[in-house]
Amino acid sequence: MGFADNTTPISLWHRRLSRRELLARGSDLAILSALTSGCASLAQQEQRGADLGFQVVTPSYEDTLIVPQGYRADVLLRWGDRLFSDTPTLDSEAVVHGELLKSTAARDQTRQFGYNCDGMGILDIGNGELLVCVNHEYPNPELLFPGYRAAQRTGEASVFIQKNPQCVEFMQASVGVSIAHFQSTTNWQLKVDSPFNRRITANTPMEFFGPARGHDLLKTHQDVTGTRVNGTFYNCAAGMTPWGTYLTAEEGVDDFFGNRRAARFTSSVEQAHNRFRPRGLESRFRWEFADPRFNVALNPKEPFKFGWIVELDPQDALKPIKKRTALGRFKHEGATTVVAPDGRVVVYMGDDQAFEYLYKFVTRDAMDPENPESNVDLLDSGTLYVARFSEDGSGKWMPMIWGEHTALSLENGFGSQGDVVLRCREAADLVGATPMDRPEDIAVSPRTKKVYLSCTQNSDRGEGEVESAGRVVDASANWANPRTPNLWGHIVELSEYGADASATEFCWEIFLLAGDPEVGQFLTMLDPDSLAVDSDSTYFAGYSDTNDLSAIASPDNLTFDDAGNLWITTDGEQPRGNNDGCFVCPTDGISRGAVRQFMSGPIGCEVSGCEITPDGKSLLLSIQHPGEGGTVETPVSSWPDGGTAAPRPSVVAVRPEDPRRKLTG
Ligand code: FEO
Ligand code: CA
Ligand code: CA
Repeated sequence: MGFADNTTPISLWHRRLSRRELLARGSDLAILSALTSGCASLAQQEQRGADLGFQVVTPSYEDTLIVPQGYRADVLLRWGDRLFSDTPTLDSEAVVHGELLKSTAARDQTRQFGYNCDGMGILDIGNGELLVCVNHEYPNPELLFPGYRAAQRTGEASVFIQKNPQCVEFMQASVGVSIAHFQSTTNWQLKVDSPFNRRITANTPMEFFGPARGHDLLKTHQDVTGTRVNGTFYNCAAGMTPWGTYLTAEEGVDDFFGNRRAARFTSSVEQAHNRFRPRGLESRFRWEFADPRFNVALNPKEPFKFGWIVELDPQDALKPIKKRTALGRFKHEGATTVVAPDGRVVVYMGDDQAFEYLYKFVTRDAMDPENPESNVDLLDSGTLYVARFSEDGSGKWMPMIWGEHTALSLENGFGSQGDVVLRCREAADLVGATPMDRPEDIAVSPRTKKVYLSCTQNSDRGEGEVESAGRVVDASANWANPRTPNLWGHIVELSEYGADASATEFCWEIFLLAGDPEVGQFLTMLDPDSLAVDSDSTYFAGYSDTNDLSAIASPDNLTFDDAGNLWITTDGEQPRGNNDGCFVCPTDGISRGAVRQFMSGPIGCEVSGCEITPDGKSLLLSIQHPGEGGTVETPVSSWPDGGTAAPRPSVVAVRPEDPRRKLTG
């Protein structure tokens, strides 16, 4: 047993020292590259080559979706596309005329593809047919309802909502999840009226499972049992389980709840809100002005029903949708599932807020591939861990088990594992987790089993202490978050002990310090003696030729192809002010770290989703919030319909024009 590349924390530290020595001696690049890549032999590196078979896309500022020459991008699902023939498809030209203010709009939206598509899961159901599961993050009322932004500017957005309560009904129908049935990857024809087509919204009934089921903090006027909830929203990245269910991650749910300052919480409710707080005054989307469920002065415990991983079976609408409380409550970015060598299942999860943590959940029981029914409730029993990164390149997964860790006890107000998962961030503080620069999505290499975590950015990383999410935290650089401030984000690479996802120890490296390799200091190695790294310094896993590299920032969703290439989509400011996009780079071999831009999105969007079809030929991307930054009256994008149409968040499939080709190579 050992780390995937036969290192241990100690040898890794020695390796770092020897890298410095090699650098001091002006050692040759190949040796440095081998040290940096960790596991690939030089022979392997030569075999792999540098060419992924596409011409790099250059940064774009245009309101169009760009893919490399020789590739095509088909729009599969646009916001408002009907999933059922009893409902019209949204008229995108009519949005500016108040189409969505009509009383029928919400009902139609519950039968159409939802808004702001994000995390995806693809399920092959045989005969080449696919179910595409897509979640929907949040609404953009300024792009939906004429007059909203004007009201916002005069401080009257809440009045607008009170006068137009149907807007809230519409927004609640626009979020959640869509499931869409497609004919095949060569004929991306949506099967309208398929029995698999489905919409899940902010009002769809769901049930709690795991240690917080029935907890007092989940008991409300509407649900005295603490076992039920209506809906899911602010869903971000997502994942599929090996047993064919879709996991969708509830992220910034605090944005949906308002009026905290007017509330009189009991001490236990106050404590549980402290690290994950509803808004003090108006919420970001102001639903509380039309629906008291979102007013915490009236419903102080409703927020505890959100911030979970949600599991659903795309093939069976009759099965209950389950919120899996064993996986903790926080701003869940995604849920990346792998099977450990002993058959237990591991779910990696980020908490997307500045100075929050990386988690994983390891099931108690092994998965039984022969007996799918026995896996149905695997995610209810197991151990939740949070990551602690040490400066020597080692790391520990800290178990968060009530009664076992001395800090997770009655002395600190934890009376059960239900308390631990409900106050997950606070429990993670107590077991000594490392505060990261906004952990987003996670991907695991199918070749090396190494784990990649994107930290999207953290402009508050710097000197001294800051107040963040209800506690004071040391904001100074640590070696796992070395840039001050971290404007452009980074990717961390973890090697689990024994390449075993269930291990309790790991070693780690910085894989990418994103940014513009043409600006600031371009690093080909990192020096552990120099903790703080300048915000404009970049590092591409040791790759040394800036001519081959694309500028990249704000990494968010990640996925791997079978060849071991890491696909990265971005959400946020890019170093050259250009649109967000999709990038890809090898993670081993001579081209390790050679990040190249593969696709550019239209104006105002983030690019998310990022899933490869089972045949390896199509990349599915979510184009989320195109036109953000504009308003319905003064749009900055009309993608994808063009002309005077409102922009429509959409899922696209990118594939080579030659159907015999795979995505790369
Ligand atoms: Fe919703 Fe963390 O991006
Ligand atoms: Ca995201
Ligand atoms: Ca993001």
